[in-house]
Amino acid sequence: MNAAVTLYVPGDASACSLGADHVARAIEAEAIRRGRAVRIVRNGSRGLYWLEPLVEVATAAGRVAYGPVTPADVDKLLDAGMLEGGAHALRLGDISTHPYLASQQRLTGARLGVVDPTSLVDYVAHGGYVGLRNALAMQPLDIVRAVTDSGLRGRGGAAFPTGIKWQTVHDQKAAQKFITCNADEGDSGTFSDRMLMEGDPFSLIEGMTIAGIAVGATQGYIYLRIEYPHAARALAKALVVARAVGYLGDDILGSGKRFDIVVRLGAGAYICGEETSMLESLEGRRGEVRVRPPLPAIKGLFGQPTVVNNVVTLASVPVVLARGAQFYKDFGAGKSRGTIPLQLAGNVKHAGLVERAFGLTVKELVYDYGGGSATGRPVRAVQIGGPLGAYLPASEFDTPLEYEALSARDALLGHGGVVVFDDRVDMARMARYALEFCAVESCGKCTPCRIGSARGVELVDRIIAARAGGNGASGAHDSNLALLNELCDTMFNGSLCGLGGLTPYPVRSALRHFKEDFLSGARAHLPGARAPH
Ligand SMILES: Cc1cc2nc3c(=O)[nH]c(=O)nc-3n(C[C@H](O)[C@H](O)[C@H](O)COP(=O)(O)O)c2cc1C
Ligand code: SF4
Repeated sequence: MNAAVTLYVPGDASACSLGADHVARAIEAEAIRRGRAVRIVRNGSRGLYWLEPLVEVATAAGRVAYGPVTPADVDKLLDAGMLEGGAHALRLGDISTHPYLASQQRLTGARLGVVDPTSLVDYVAHGGYVGLRNALAMQPLDIVRAVTDSGLRGRGGAAFPTGIKWQTVHDQKAAQKFITCNADEGDSGTFSDRMLMEGDPFSLIEGMTIAGIAVGATQGYIYLRIEYPHAARALAKALVVARAVGYLGDDILGSGKRFDIVVRLGAGAYICGEETSMLESLEGRRGEVRVRPPLPAIKGLFGQPTVVNNVVTLASVPVVLARGAQFYKDFGAGKSRGTIPLQLAGNVKHAGLVERAFGLTVKELVYDYGGGSATGRPVRAVQIGGPLGAYLPASEFDTPLEYEALSARDALLGHGGVVVFDDRVDMARMARYALEFCAVESCGKCTPCRIGSARGVELVDRIIAARAGGNGASGAHDSNLALLNELCDTMFNGSLCGLGGLTPYPVRSALRHFKEDFLSGARAHLPGARAPH
């Protein structure tokens, strides 16, 4: 039989939802029928989702991509010589030269779509574990200092400096410390954690191991939402491999240092992404926010000093240790250093993952990468930073995507999700949606959030009813709007955690930038002018 041709068909959840499993099976079946030997690698997605399932073939001249491929295309593709990189309408050539990818600055996601996610050989061949080897040759405090000097801030949402958090845990005297990875990824329109765990799980494992060595922790936990079964499988396989060859365990690479990781599945409540709720859930209790202080860094999991970091934060650490703090810090703008994997979703032509240094503008992201709305209608708004993030109108699309610039506009970057809406969006309904989301997901511990969000939904319902009834500018209507603003003040100032405390961001930004939607019924008559439910 002829030598096997290697093909890459993503096993990423998004690609699979678009039929990648069927495509892989069709290629295998058709190759057997033709007497051709093929080896199919289920890689992660490159993050160009409109081209998924994106199949790549390893040819003598390099990898050649085809996409989006359906099972019905497979026969014709093989006829066209796909296994040798032959010409076909779906042929995209070397996908790494595609402008969407070539213009990115992939540091954390450099291996996404490139490697076999569960092959340690592949990981090491593509620069993996250099960071850990460097870390093992350093004093723990020097590792912490490198992370501090890199300017890395938490990518889970709060953007807290990672080095300072690690320093606090390092400085605690305790018999047991923990590294916990927050892989709950509850924000709407976000998927970078998932992509990293599915497409490059060793980068997270390496980052957690470096964190453990830096702060003196020997046990790590990955808190993963149960809706991510592909990530759970990739992590489980990678953990077995890492343990088998001594990258985890009692004597990491012969250093005498000990560290291991287990995965715990969360049932998928948004509040379990809040770090103290996550710790409660990890301890086997209902996910409910803890009062702070004490901080988790001082008294966290099982009462021990605990690092809580997001997947992207931890997966960025190997880059810092492998290439140096200054290398990482040289990317970015202002106090936002390094790169951020932005996740472009919603009503946009080219949804996907865009990793760039901080500072790319909303306009560049939505138009240069996203190609505008999928419907071809004008883009009216984007929501940045998940369900608790502010809406920005088109007039503010020159805003750079970095922490301080967004904060100056009463917005936040959160986990880097950007959801696009066209001109049919009804912003009063989006404000209602934010409050309803908060009401549904509230842990119930504090009154402003538990009661305030429910009253907020009723209030917006009254505003929408008055608007539709044509008396959208009456005295009662004005007082409802004033009351809504007051309610936002109470939730913002009085909530115990970010769920209740940040819900005012989408509500207020909708009121501020799109007031006309609250005053007249015009928008409600547009086709499709509804919030998702
Ligand atoms: C309601 C709520 C939900 C959150 N969800 C997540 C989440 O899904 N993933 C995450 O990493 N951080 C989430 N966070 C932020 C965490 O509380 C915490 O700041 C983060 O995990 C710390 O890691 P980092 O410093 O690496 O960002 C959430 C915060 C709040 C208030
Ligand atoms: S703000 Fe909401 S989610 Fe947070 S502690 Fe209060 S009730 Fe719980």
